[in-house]
Amino acid sequence: MTRKIIIDTDPGQDDAIAILLALASPELEVIGITTVAGNVPLNLTTKNALKILEVANKTEIPVFAGCDAPLKRKLVTAEHVHGATGLNGIALPEPKIAAQDQHGVDFIIQVLRENEAGTITLCPLGPLTNIASAMQQAPEIISKIKEIILMGGAYFEVGNITPAAEFNIYVDPEAADIVMRSGVKITMIPLDVTHQVLTTNKRISRLKNLGNKTGEIVASWVDFFERFDEEKYGSDGAPLHDPCVIAYLIKPELFWGRQINVQIETQSELTRGMSVADYWGVTDKQECPRNVKFLRNANANGFYELLFERLKKLP
Ligand code: BDR
Ligand code: CA
Repeated sequence: MTRKIIIDTDPGQDDAIAILLALASPELEVIGITTVAGNVPLNLTTKNALKILEVANKTEIPVFAGCDAPLKRKLVTAEHVHGATGLNGIALPEPKIAAQDQHGVDFIIQVLRENEAGTITLCPLGPLTNIASAMQQAPEIISKIKEIILMGGAYFEVGNITPAAEFNIYVDPEAADIVMRSGVKITMIPLDVTHQVLTTNKRISRLKNLGNKTGEIVASWVDFFERFDEEKYGSDGAPLHDPCVIAYLIKPELFWGRQINVQIETQSELTRGMSVADYWGVTDKQECPRNVKFLRNANANGFYELLFERLKKLP
C-alpha cells in the first residue's frame, strides 16, 4: 500500500533531492507540496518546488505557498550555503506551472480534515512554521496526523547555524516547540544522522553517471553546496540532510535511534532553537514524556544505494 505524504519544504538543494527521491518511489504518494520561508524567501522556495516537479515531469502534483515568515521572529535565510536562488547548480528554466491559490496551511488543514485519521504523514524539511500554524488554527487536525517525520535539530553535533542550534529549528523555534508538544508521533532526523551521509567524490561521480538528466542536475546541486560544508567541517563531501526523511520512510531499517524527550529552547538568545535531547534518559518520564524518536545513526552506503537506484528512474 502506498503511503500518503505531504512534503513541507524550503528548497534548497537537499530538499530538492528529497522531493525527487519521493517522486521516484512507488511506496509513497506525494499528495501535495507546501512551501515555507527558510533557506531562501518564500517566493523562491515556491518557484524552486515548481522547477523540481518539472525536472521529474510530475507537474500534476500541486504546490501550495505557505508562511513567508516565522511565527514570532524575523526570517533568517541561508543563501551562504544554497546560493542566491536556493537551488544554485545547473540553471533550470523558469517554471511553466504555477502554485495553487490556496495557502499551504489551509491545504494541510483541509487534507487532514477530509481524510481518515491516521492516513496522512507530514514530512517537514524546513522550519516548522506551516505545521505549527495548521495546529494552532485547527487543533482538531492534530489527532488525525499519522506521523511527522522531520529533518531538524541536533544533539551530539550541536549546531550548524549557531554553535547551539540546527538551522530549521533555529529559524522558527516557537513553531518547533508547538510541534514537539503536540503529542503527534514524531521522528526527528538531526544533524547527528545527516552528518553521516556524506556526498563523497565517488558518490557525486555515481550521480553524474546515472545516465539521465536528473543525475546531472543533482550532481551539480551537490557540487555547489558541498564546497561550503567541506570548508566548514573539513570533510570529504557534505551532509545530505533532507533526503534522509524520505529514505527513512522507504527503508527505516537504514536508521537507528531512541524514543526520548526532546524540548526546544525558545527563551535564551545564546542557545535559541537548541534541541535539548535527553538521549541518556536523565529526566523524569512523567514531567518530560518521551515525545520523539530521535535518530542517531544511519547506514550511509545503504542510503546512497537507495538514492542512486531511485533517481535513475527519473527523466
Ligand atoms: C537543514 O537546513 C537547510 O539548510 C537544509 O535544507 C536542511 O533542511 C539542515 O540544517
Ligand atoms: Ca530544508
